[in-house]
Amino acid sequence: MSQGHVPSPAAREAFEYSQPTRFVFGAGQLRQLPQLVDEWAGPNASVLLITGRSSLRANGVLDAVCQGLNSHRITLFEQVPTNPSPEVTQQAIDLCRSNECNIVVAIGGGSPLDVGKITALLAPGPADLMSYQRDPKLIDFKGLPCIAVPTTSGSSSEVTPFAVTWDKEASVRYPLAHPGLFPKVAIVDPDLVVSMPPDLAAATGMDAFTSAFEAYWSSHAQPVSDVLALECISLYRDNLESSCIEGNADARAKCALASSLSGMAYSSARTTAPHAFGTPLSLFFDTVHGEAVSVTLPAFLDWNAPTFERKLDPLLRAMRCSSLNEVAQALRGMMQRCRINTRLQDIGVGAGDLPRITARALTEPQMQFNPRTMTVDEGVSLLEGIL
Ligand SMILES: [Fe+2]
Repeated sequence: MSQGHVPSPAAREAFEYSQPTRFVFGAGQLRQLPQLVDEWAGPNASVLLITGRSSLRANGVLDAVCQGLNSHRITLFEQVPTNPSPEVTQQAIDLCRSNECNIVVAIGGGSPLDVGKITALLAPGPADLMSYQRDPKLIDFKGLPCIAVPTTSGSSSEVTPFAVTWDKEASVRYPLAHPGLFPKVAIVDPDLVVSMPPDLAAATGMDAFTSAFEAYWSSHAQPVSDVLALECISLYRDNLESSCIEGNADARAKCALASSLSGMAYSSARTTAPHAFGTPLSLFFDTVHGEAVSVTLPAFLDWNAPTFERKLDPLLRAMRCSSLNEVAQALRGMMQRCRINTRLQDIGVGAGDLPRITARALTEPQMQFNPRTMTVDEGVSLLEGIL
């Protein structure tokens, strides 16, 4: 770890860390995909290949992947939109079942990866997605292997046991957390993120950057997640702007690594208040996820600070700052230069919206991991400060 050691917990403080996903990182490593498919599903594998709507086809990656897998049977599902619905996810599960696929390869941003992970987990079962969503204990069977290949740097879905579907019309978010959602393999190939447009690099980067702060101050933080979160924060501090603004290839690669480190941290430590508030901001104002979670980051950093004083110094070193105030200023500056909104008004929120945003956020599961409990009045006043 490059930024100094993390204070150890009390000697008898118990914790557990698990990261079962095999992590393959490096430029050009996508070439390992055919051999990894063979390893997990045999030379006669029937592959369900899940991607987003168009970008992979447009930049030639999809053709290259299909070419590499051409000795296998491939079923292509390329209809995954941003914030996929349960219906779209069910279509992928149905296709996997009807074509008897025995491995899922998910390539794309967080949405295709989440659909791929859910499909791999649930396709071998007899019931539909919503039955398992209502009662995850029904998932008492082994899922198919899933290989996840991110083409953005921020969802961290390639290394987490979480996946989400969205019913935007009903304003409902369906999170699923299950150990079987960890992909068997994550291939993080920085060549795949070089072509990300600046706004996507900024929004996805701020998502993972925010998650690393949340993992660090989470009530479920522990020494392993702390080390991962700090290294992630240090990498973003030094490389996010260059990655977003200049599209610098080395900075993009470091942000790709940082994104996965964030997921490795919060897969155990979990996310907290910024993600809880991000849900109503996305559902009610159609705010891009990365912006919806990062807009509250500087304010929550300040609000949660009394709970992690013991760990403040390593965080300051990772951010190259000498005070919390400087950290919050540095974050706002980075966000502004990367064209991420730092005020709620800029994403369409008015003063009259604050009570319903807060009321909804306080019901989100991430609030249970925030180190400080919050009342509606406290939440509204905190949001007023960033209106
Ligand atoms: Fe996120």
